[in-house]
Amino acid sequence: MKKWYAVLGDPIAQSMSPVMHDQWFLENEWHASYLPIHVTPEKLEQAIESLRMLGCSGWNVTVPHKQAIIPYLDEVDEAAMHMNAVNTVYQTTDGKLIGTNTDGTGFVKSLQEFAGNHVRGPVLMIGAGGAARGIAFALQSAGYGPLYFTNRTTSKAAELASEMQNAHVLSVEEAEQRMGEFDVVVQTTSVGMNFAQAGMPLDPKGIKKGAVVADIIYNPLETEFLQVARQAGALTMNGVGMFVHQGALAFEKWTSIYPDTKKMIEMITMKVGG
Ligand code: ATR
Repeated sequence: MKKWYAVLGDPIAQSMSPVMHDQWFLENEWHASYLPIHVTPEKLEQAIESLRMLGCSGWNVTVPHKQAIIPYLDEVDEAAMHMNAVNTVYQTTDGKLIGTNTDGTGFVKSLQEFAGNHVRGPVLMIGAGGAARGIAFALQSAGYGPLYFTNRTTSKAAELASEMQNAHVLSVEEAEQRMGEFDVVVQTTSVGMNFAQAGMPLDPKGIKKGAVVADIIYNPLETEFLQVARQAGALTMNGVGMFVHQGALAFEKWTSIYPDTKKMIEMITMKVGG
């Protein structure tokens, strides 16, 4: 029987997950479809019940449901627990719904694909929200470090650093002054997204040549932050790779196949670039 998968969000029309997963289903001869489903917060519980009843094999969860979905699942794994957020749901053979989170590992995979395995740190993390948390835990478990956290609200950076090993806190000014010390810089805030939140969370112009600077935003493909870093000599990486790898990890949970990410990164880059 044909299987089906979905992504739940509000809004959802902009999601690129359907074209990505449908393409991978085709390439891997996995007989399935992937549907975008618009679910408002007050309908979330009903939506989960319906997906269970209708036999949805697995789904992704996006804004604003990543945290709210947790009580409606049977279990969440360690990655989702660290992030207190779920982006992927899969079913065990006995029908249990498990929530996981592939965002952090997706970022690390895209970083490794881009920069290889030799770059390890020091790493500067900009931002201290859910995205920063997931990426920081994934970087730490992959052996990156030391980690330095900076954020507009320094107390939040301090709280996140206190949960990690070998982690430090910097004010935004200190981070700018010490920019030349980092081998990897990861921008996780929403500043620069869709041109709506213009500007940069901090100025990376002091970056050393050849350092890797990543922004998790992929629309626009090059934020002002990445542009300044590139002009200063950094190797810059946008958020397309993280998006594709978080999807690939979800795909793997559902099918046990890790799909082709390189071709997909090219395809999504072309679609975003218009
Ligand atoms: P997400 O789950 O996407 O990480 P979040 O948890 O709301 O979203 O976190 C947003 C991050 O972007 C935070 O680090 C936030 O800084 P504060 O902790 O000071 O709020 C950061 N951020 C959002 N808007 C910002 C802005 N205009 N300037 C600097 N940082 C900003």
